[in-house]
Amino acid sequence: MKVLVMHGSKRKNGNTGLLAGEFIRGAEEAGHQVERVELGDMKFGDCLGCMACWKNPGKCVQKDDMTAVLEKFGQADAIVFASPMYFFSWTSLMKRGIDRLYPYMTIAKDKTFYLIVAGGVPEEKLFDNMLQDFQKYVECFNMHGGVNNRNGGHILGKGTLAPGNVKESSAMQEAYEMGKNLGKN
Ligand SMILES: Cc1cc2nc3c(=O)[nH]c(=O)nc-3n(C[C@H](O)[C@H](O)[C@H](O)COP(=O)(O)O)c2cc1C
Repeated sequence: MKVLVMHGSKRKNGNTGLLAGEFIRGAEEAGHQVERVELGDMKFGDCLGCMACWKNPGKCVQKDDMTAVLEKFGQADAIVFASPMYFFSWTSLMKRGIDRLYPYMTIAKDKTFYLIVAGGVPEEKLFDNMLQDFQKYVECFNMHGGVNNRNGGHILGKGTLAPGNVKESSAMQEAYEMGKNLGKN
């Protein structure tokens, strides 16, 4: 399978990044082809809301660092959003990247989406907002022409505030196994 991991933290080696790394380790060991993009290193604009992409599916009028990501998105079977939880939601960086995937809304097919989140709070309940947003996000891809896109699951790095905290968490093993088992469920 082709896998695209979009990492949306400026802390490249922070908790989300570490979880994404474990997911990738598992996926590569299982023979999958993984591309990791660091949104924090990229220059790209906000979605303009011009809707031109609905007339020209898969293409955005803005030519910037998202152009290559869009191409990888189009080819990927599995997509991973790896974002820290900021104010109980995505980082603005992750959201900006997600909005720019709109050109695939009408044509995405058979893609499985995964969510990796790190957050400071230990209570699972407090991650609900992100999980609901994510589910809704995936559903959008089946509402306007896209077909058979689905939510493949999530990994929560709970109680992780300082970079590296997540190393003590069972989420590391869970992320590795999720990567290793890609395509089996
Ligand atoms: C601006 C900001 C907002 C945050 N908001 C929350 C929050 O609402 N809930 C929470 O549990 N943690 C919150 N955190 C803590 C981060 O989620 C936590 O440090 C996480 O490990 C960061 O992930 P990273 O290391 O991958 O960057 C916030 C951190 C920052 C900098």
